[in-house]
Amino acid sequence: MPPPARAVAAIGDNAGFALPIRTRMNVHGIATQTIAAIGDDRVEIIDQTRLPHEFVRILLTSPADAAEAIAVMRVRGAPLIGATAAYGLALAAVTDAGDAALADAADLLAATRPTAVNLRWALERMLARLLPLPPAARRAAAWAEAAAIRAEDIAQNRAIGAHGLPLLAAIAERRPGPVNVLTHCNAGWLATVDWGTALAPVYAAAEAGIPVHVWVDETRPRNQGASLTAWELASHGIAHTVIADNAGGHLMRRGEVDLCIVGTDRVAANGDVANKIGTYLKALAAFDNGIPFHVAAPGPSIDFALADGSAIPIETRAGDEVSHILGRADDGRLLRVRLTPAASPAANPAFDVTPARLVTGLITERGLVAADTAALAALYPERQTR
Ligand code: MRU
Repeated sequence: MPPPARAVAAIGDNAGFALPIRTRMNVHGIATQTIAAIGDDRVEIIDQTRLPHEFVRILLTSPADAAEAIAVMRVRGAPLIGATAAYGLALAAVTDAGDAALADAADLLAATRPTAVNLRWALERMLARLLPLPPAARRAAAWAEAAAIRAEDIAQNRAIGAHGLPLLAAIAERRPGPVNVLTHCNAGWLATVDWGTALAPVYAAAEAGIPVHVWVDETRPRNQGASLTAWELASHGIAHTVIADNAGGHLMRRGEVDLCIVGTDRVAANGDVANKIGTYLKALAAFDNGIPFHVAAPGPSIDFALADGSAIPIETRAGDEVSHILGRADDGRLLRVRLTPAASPAANPAFDVTPARLVTGLITERGLVAADTAALAALYPERQTR
C-alpha cells in the first residue's frame, strides 16, 4: 500500500542527503536515506514504528534520544543500529566530551538491544577514536567518525549489491520471467543507511534491467517484512508479494523461489548466522528443496570473537508483540488489537541462529564467501586475533 500523500509531502527535498552514488533508494521518486546529521548537534531519522502508515522524520538531540530510538525500534536493522549508536556518542560529545560522559553514553546505548553486533562495533570504534584525543577536540572528531561510519555503510551495501547481482543475473540467463527472491524480515535500505544488505542485490538487479520479484515475509511477530520491506519495495517500484511466514516452504516446494537472501544481526566466526526469528525455518526449507540460501553480511556484522553461534545473545522482546497487532482500519484509524486470549501468556524470542551448514554463502562487501571459519578468516585477515 503506498503511503498517504500527506506523508510524501513531509519528505522534503533531501538536500542534506546528497552523496555520490549512482542510484539512491526512492520514496516515490525522492531519493531518501535513513539517517543524517543536521549540523553538529542534531540527527534526523525516519520513525520506522510509524511505517507503512506514515512517513515521518524526527530529530534526535541527545544520547538518550538515540538510545530510545534504538530500544523502541524507531531505527532498527543491524547496520542502522550501529550508525545511530555512533551518532548517539556524537550527540553526547555536544554537551560533555569528557571520559565519564562518553562512557556513560556508551553504556546507555549498548544496553538497548543485544543481538546486532554492529551496536558494540560502532561504540568501540567511536571510543577508540575519541578517548585518546584531548576533550576539546572530541566533538568535531565524533561527528566526523560517525559520518565515516555512515558513509562506509553505504559503500559496503553498494558493494554487497554488486557482488550479489551475478547470483540473480545467472538465474535470469537460464530462463525467462522474473527472478523470484525470498527475503525474511527487513534487510533493505530501511535497515541500513542506504541500499540495504539483502535487498542491495535486488536493487542492483533492477538497476541492471533484470526482472525481479520478491517474496516478502516476516509477517509475525514484528511484521518487519509486511510493514517495512513491502513499503520500501513499493516505494522503489520493485515487484513483490507479501506472504504469510508459513507460506515460504510451500512456495519453495512448488519451484516458485529461485533463491533466498536474508540479512543478519551477527555472523559468528564459523559462519553461523543470527537473524530475525523465523530465518532458520526458511533455511531448513531452502536446504530441503535445494534452493540457494544466501546471507548478506557487511564486515561490521561479523563477530570474530565468537567461535560459533551458540553464544550469540538472543533478544527476548515483550509478549505483547505476539498477543497484539497494530494496523490501519478501513475508516483510517490506526488500531492496536489483541489477537490472543487475555489469559494466554506469549513468548517472543526475536532472533534465531541458522547453522552455517544451511548457508550457501555469505555476500560481503569483499565478495562471496563460504560460511566457514577458514574462508571468513582469509577474507578478513586483519580482524583475526587468535
Ligand atoms: O528487529 P530488527 O528489525 O532490528 O531485525 C532486523 C533483522 O533481523 C535484519 O535482517 C538484520 O538486522 C539485518 S539488517 C541489514
